[in-house]
Amino acid sequence: MLEVSAEGGRALCRLDDVPDGGAIAVDIDSSTGGFNLILLRRGERIFAYHNECPHAGRRLDWSPGKFLVKDASVICAAHGATFDVTSGAVIAGPCRNGLVPMPLRVVDGVVVLQ
Ligand code: FES
Repeated sequence: MLEVSAEGGRALCRLDDVPDGGAIAVDIDSSTGGFNLILLRRGERIFAYHNECPHAGRRLDWSPGKFLVKDASVICAAHGATFDVTSGAVIAGPCRNGLVPMPLRVVDGVVVLQ
C-alpha cells in the first residue's frame, strides 16, 4: 500500500498498476470492516466503483481481481449485468441501478481516493 497523500486522500496504487483497457480490485480498510473497489483504466483516465453488483450484491469479479471487461463495459460475473466503464450506468442485464462511483484523482501518476 502506498503512503497517504499529503492532501489527505488515500493513495491506492500507481496508474500504471492498472492495465490500460482493464481493471484491478483494491481493498479499502475501514473501521467498519472495509470494502473492495474496482478500478478501471482508459488511457490516462481511471474510474472507481464499489465492487458490488446492485442486482444481488455479489462481487463483479469472477475470481478476486479478475473482471470481465469488454470494450467500454464491465460485466458482472454472477448473472451478466453490464455496466458502462466511464459512468457505471447499466447497459444490459437484471439491474435497475448502476454501480456506486467513488471519487478519484491522479497525482503524479498515483491514483488517490478522495
Ligand atoms: S449479482 Fe450481478 S448480475 Fe446478478
